Amino acid sequence: AGKRTFTMIKPDAVEAGNVGAILEQITSSGFRIVALKMTQMTTADAQEFYAVHNERPFFGELVEFMTRGPIVSAVLEKENAVEDFRALIGATNPEDAAEGTIRKKYAKSVGENAVHGSDSDENAQIEAAFHFSGREMF
Ligand code: CMP
Repeated sequence: AGKRTFTMIKPDAVEAGNVGAILEQITSSGFRIVALKMTQMTTADAQEFYAVHNERPFFGELVEFMTRGPIVSAVLEKENAVEDFRALIGATNPEDAAEGTIRKKYAKSVGENAVHGSDSDENAQIEAAFHFSGREMF
């Protein structure tokens, strides 16, 4: 299993003031932060990042949401990082997310779901490289 995953704390969770609590839960769950920054995605950024979803009915809504305010993006290191991080954040829809997961605690809806987690080692690498230069990853 790969050792790194990529995450974004999405605009809803940044707006709600939950950045500190979410980073605390991530690090206390054994993930080491190896890259971290606050940025705001442009429409072009979001369309490219989510290109795999561009035929979905929610694509416009997703791009609108992800660009409406700043995000906090990070690269995280841990054994089995991708799978363990997806367990920590919980199901995409917070109604289906397990008790204690980040989405159960902080997500508002399936669209505004507080955090992103890469779904494979390959996508983790692609997504990290999309958001961070080599000099920003440690
Ligand atoms: P994530 O898994 O991080 O990346 C794809 C995103 O699309 C997902 O989080 C949700 O934010 C969003 N999404 C998925 N399904 C829906 C839906 N039915 N309606 C609105 N947004 C959705």
